[in-house]
Amino acid sequence: MPIRLIIHGGAWSIPDEMDEAHRGGVRNALMTVYPKLQKGMSALDAVELAVNLLEEDPTFDAGRGAFLNEKGEIELDAIIIDGATLSFGAVAAVQNLLHPVSLARKIMEETEHSMLVGQGAQAFAQRIGFETLEPQALLTDRELAYYHQINKDPDFKPHHPFEPLPSDTVGAVAMDHLGNLAAATSTGGTPRKMAGRVGDSPIIGAGAYADNESGAVSTTGWGEAIMKVLLSKTVCDKMLHMKAHQAAKEGIDILHKKGKGFGGVIGINTLGDYAFAYNTEKMAWGWMDENNEAQVRIR
Ligand code: GLY
Repeated sequence: MPIRLIIHGGAWSIPDEMDEAHRGGVRNALMTVYPKLQKGMSALDAVELAVNLLEEDPTFDAGRGAFLNEKGEIELDAIIIDGATLSFGAVAAVQNLLHPVSLARKIMEETEHSMLVGQGAQAFAQRIGFETLEPQALLTDRELAYYHQINKDPDFKPHHPFEPLPSDTVGAVAMDHLGNLAAATSTGGTPRKMAGRVGDSPIIGAGAYADNESGAVSTTGWGEAIMKVLLSKTVCDKMLHMKAHQAAKEGIDILHKKGKGFGGVIGINTLGDYAFAYNTEKMAWGWMDENNEAQVRIR
């Protein structure tokens, strides 16, 4: 089977001065994880590791560097899915953790459940020995300044149909040597969201999906719109009937027309063909090509 890895780091009008940091973060995740996939790492381990690296990178809205909510706090959402079994783990509105995607995986593998939120998720994290950080450990000067800036704007809303807002959610999709597919997505949500707001990222079929019989997808963009059209599942279903790239494109068309929103998708079908599409000005994303070289794009 072909070994595949594709990664995204947000889709929006990324300011030009942030291009290089986005490219660098995506490239670092590709170059670190792909050699391990080639040596036999599972797709599930690969997407978790790739997303962990992006959660550690303060460039992105995931883990360190996440947006602040209306209370000036960081609440994180994440999901991981195993395409071989359809098992998934998800967390929503968790605080003070660098790697919510790894907590999601523990929920998948060590509990009877698939999704934990808020205090219940925190309690589980503590019980299994996850390191709890001080809130400042995830906070960047950039996001604190942005929070103060948008707080002064009486017209700022965390979601508008058809209005581009920052969206630096991260995600990864992989196929391993056994042909297994996996997907993972992690986010701090939208700037100045209501406390307790949960977007698409941890919602199965919206923020990510993986099924060895159709494909695997991770999304980024406007959560309220992406949830309306279950974007990841929509694209995976389309992969059964058309080329991977066309499935991604049609998924984004549906997001635009029916969801009235903006965003991006990356994916891999059962043949190992890559897919991507977005209707934002830019999307930070990259894949490993046939020559084992990292291809990184921001448009
Ligand atoms: N796509 C991330 C969010 O809306 O929360």
